[in-house]
Amino acid sequence: MKVIWNSEIVDRSEVTIDPEDRGYQFGDGIYEVIRAYNKEFFCLDEHLDRFFSSAEKIEMHVPYTKNELKHLANRLLSETGVNTGNLYLQLTRGVASPRNHMYPDASVLPMLTGTFTETERDQQMLDKGIHTIVTEDIRWLKCDIKMISLLGNIMVKHEAHKKNAYEAILHRDGIVTECSAANVAIVKNGVIHTHPDGNLILPGITKLVWKRCAERLGIPVVEEPFSLDELYNADEIFCSSTTMEVMPVKKLDNKVFFSETAGSVTRKLQEAYKAEIEQCCGKLPVH
Ligand code: PDD
Repeated sequence: MKVIWNSEIVDRSEVTIDPEDRGYQFGDGIYEVIRAYNKEFFCLDEHLDRFFSSAEKIEMHVPYTKNELKHLANRLLSETGVNTGNLYLQLTRGVASPRNHMYPDASVLPMLTGTFTETERDQQMLDKGIHTIVTEDIRWLKCDIKMISLLGNIMVKHEAHKKNAYEAILHRDGIVTECSAANVAIVKNGVIHTHPDGNLILPGITKLVWKRCAERLGIPVVEEPFSLDELYNADEIFCSSTTMEVMPVKKLDNKVFFSETAGSVTRKLQEAYKAEIEQCCGKLPVH
């Protein structure tokens, strides 16, 4: 398997990670997940912009230009032969020994890795929707940074898994924020409601795209905090992420939101999102 390792494309077996790498020691690093369809990246520019923005927020220098990262990503895409899959691009603050919480000086070079694996679109899941639970948002207060320290996210995801659900919808003091690995929105009386960007959620790239679709379709979007009560009483709920696209929520705790097909607003957004992908990456297979 070919991977990105700093400025090279190498075989995965050649990569060595130092036990004193700050990513390994402190979770001191950032990442992006970028999807490719038909050997074309979708929203690569937007993801790389967020990568640089996350780096800036933790005062980490990215020792590559955006064009260099694009070039590396595209080289990996062609060398792996992946058709439709997810690229995980990760940058840690590098190796600093002896261990010290302080940021190391500028001579320590951040370490870049990138892995790319074939992951087909799951049309069945997109049609059927997912089961979710509600739980407390136990994460820190800088959720806008796409960072590799994800313990809070994985703990709530595991809680969902233990209850046979796929995602955890999170709330802070009764206000719905997002999911463990996705944004969340509700539809009420034809209007979409979702939490505004800021420090409490990740500014999703998928959300950017579905908002654009909603605008084109004339579906109003309100970006204001909404309550757990509004969540439970929504007409439709959907999650969104690079890997899930626009995903209907079929069940929330014990409440079932639809039996066969998701609500009409969610389905319209799914179709419009698919059209955006096809415009960028070409026709998707019909299932
Ligand atoms: N997760 N919120 C959180 C906490 C996320 O982890 C993600 C993405 C999103 C949606 O962001 P985007 O639409 O840009 O993918 C929101 C990715 C897929 C992951 O970490 O695997």
